Amino acid sequence: MTTNKHSDEIRNGHFFSVVNRSMTSSRDSSETNPDPSCLLSRRAFLGTALVAGGSLALLAVPTVSTVVIPALRKGVVKWVDFGKPDQLGAVDFTMLPFEFLVKDGWQDLPQRGFVWAKNDPASGPLVLSSTCTHLACSVIWNPGRKLFLCPCHSGFFNAEGKPAGGPPQKPLARLPFKIEEGKLLVQIKLG
Ligand code: FES
Repeated sequence: MTTNKHSDEIRNGHFFSVVNRSMTSSRDSSETNPDPSCLLSRRAFLGTALVAGGSLALLAVPTVSTVVIPALRKGVVKWVDFGKPDQLGAVDFTMLPFEFLVKDGWQDLPQRGFVWAKNDPASGPLVLSSTCTHLACSVIWNPGRKLFLCPCHSGFFNAEGKPAGGPPQKPLARLPFKIEEGKLLVQIKLG
């Protein structure tokens, strides 16, 4: 009977008040009343907590899917316009963020990320992927050390994108680019 009452209250959106009341009654009972009904109250509270935990886990599933699914749009290729290349530094890399939509059935899913680019007048632009070649964390350019640092497992890459320490064995990907009408267009391939 007690469990059914609690289930009804959960369905009616009174879970938190139920928990509070259960916790209060449980604490009061254990301090002042050795009555076996206090055990029942504890069991009811634990049952309520388990049901609620399961409900919260189910609620979390769509959130995870929302985050993960856009990252799974493999094979999509886009040319992204990053503007005039002369605004890039010659030595230090600039973070160039991008965002575009990819059609997936009836919905458009946002794809976000960033690349690193510099523009040495002597050798021209260099655009590197921000994806670490170890386990795909995002690397960050450190101007003081002139290295790309990966926060996940302390890997790092030199200014040419070659592995310089830690677990990574392969260089950062050099991304294809072209200059059209004075704009730097970079090929972004997902996956
Ligand atoms: S993901 Fe970069 S070092 Fe592991």
